[in-house]
Amino acid sequence: MASAPISALADRAAACADRLRDAESVLLLSHIDADGLTSAAIAASALERAEIAFEAGFEKQLDAAALDRAAETDHETVLFTDFGSGQLDQIAPHEAAGDFTPIIADHHQPADAETAYHLNPLLVGIDGASELSGAGTTYVLARALEPAGSDVDNRDLAALAVVGAVGDMQSGTDGLTGANESIVTEGVEAGVITVSTDLTLYGKQTRPLPKLLEYASEARIPGISNDQHGSVEFLSGLDIPLKSDGEWRRWVDLSDDERRTVVNALLRRAVASGVPADRIDDLVGTTYQLTREEHGTELRDVSEFSTLLNATARYERADVGLGVCLGDREDGLMEARQLLRNHRRNLSEGLQWVTSEGVTIEDNVQWFDAGTRIRETIVGIVAGMAVGANGVRHDLPIIAFAEKSPDEIKVSARGSGFLVGRGLDLSVVMREAARAVGGDGGGHTIAAGATIPSGTQRSFVDEAGRIVNEQLSKRS
Ligand code: C5P
Ligand code: C5P
Ligand code: ZN
Repeated sequence: MASAPISALADRAAACADRLRDAESVLLLSHIDADGLTSAAIAASALERAEIAFEAGFEKQLDAAALDRAAETDHETVLFTDFGSGQLDQIAPHEAAGDFTPIIADHHQPADAETAYHLNPLLVGIDGASELSGAGTTYVLARALEPAGSDVDNRDLAALAVVGAVGDMQSGTDGLTGANESIVTEGVEAGVITVSTDLTLYGKQTRPLPKLLEYASEARIPGISNDQHGSVEFLSGLDIPLKSDGEWRRWVDLSDDERRTVVNALLRRAVASGVPADRIDDLVGTTYQLTREEHGTELRDVSEFSTLLNATARYERADVGLGVCLGDREDGLMEARQLLRNHRRNLSEGLQWVTSEGVTIEDNVQWFDAGTRIRETIVGIVAGMAVGANGVRHDLPIIAFAEKSPDEIKVSARGSGFLVGRGLDLSVVMREAARAVGGDGGGHTIAAGATIPSGTQRSFVDEAGRIVNEQLSKRS
């Protein structure tokens, strides 16, 4: 099915914007990841430019307690970004009781209920998992909030919308597609984004060249990936200066010709060492840079920017990430960089733990229980990174557990485009399996999560496996 254009959201966005303009006071609530942070920053900028007063806050999870907290504030309007749709059934009673008017800008699978102001790509035929993120949806709202007859132009916020989409893994080798691509176009027109075809490895702005290659574990090129000595040797064999003033050069320091030299040599090496063709194709692809950010910083590269944001929000420092999104290039950025070092270490230790302990393979799913070894806020990222590593299969959804509190377990699940094409919907799997054991969950077809009571992991895996089997056998 061809997907709908981004303009399909215009009417709903206009209704939400009108309601916000009438609001006496707004509480802006958002999710704690890169997409949630950029959503909050886009909403905050647009509200401020429209001269609508608001207060901003974050929640790890929009559950009954979080909604009660929102109801207890004296804000009569609550703008939810990057969450809310999955909790419509819990939000609707608050609307009915007059606790607050909810306005939702989200891209998650909606729960079975309705509210008056709901902006979600899935309601108009745009895929919320791959074509529009929470930040993109909020960007549509931001455009609708531009005051008529003023010179406010919110297209500069497209930069943050693209960071959110990339943070939610919506960009493939061919870059962003569908509604996301329209946002890129607006960002290019506004002069805040450039699009290029380049090496896809993470760290082009900030990593010294040998580290760029060595740490690119996703590329898995024998003798280069995870091989410090091999990376240096490979680069030394190319006819380009590797250091400048005694310091390693970075990808951004190379000329176009030098970049081509490295890419060609890398491709030749990958082919010669038998790296599968699809992984070779993934080495070069569409990348996005933010033109207003300083060259050689994490913020210039959209993918590095989104990781920097995850490093703040997933460690209870959403305030720091929001500050950076809103322009803090001093103390906030320094603090975010410190958090990034910590986040990287945690990801690498988490991944190492999963690959050494291994996963349990069942008929329809594979799973691991990290207990307190991996922080619950990053266990989903680790699960996604583990797929394809030693013993972790590509053809089964992966379910990861981590302890949230002594009596609660966080669950994260990740699938693949292939499985989704065959009927997998992890948002349903997580919601139904969690409800079966006294918890709740939701998310996207390809990535979803849940919270369940401690001790119910085994029954949860059985239930999830049963639902996955049902989904996959319906289509085949
Ligand atoms: O709550 P939110 O929608 O912002 O989070 C999306 C999550 O789903 C992210 O953690 C992202 O990494 C994950 N995801 C994924 N693969 C995809 C799409 C999303 O792992 N193809
Ligand atoms: O937390 P995790 O990264 O595994 O989340 C994957 C996706 O599932 C995210 O989009 C998140 O918002 C969603 N999710 C949800 N309900 C939960 C947990 C996660 O909708 N209880
Ligand atoms: Zn999102």
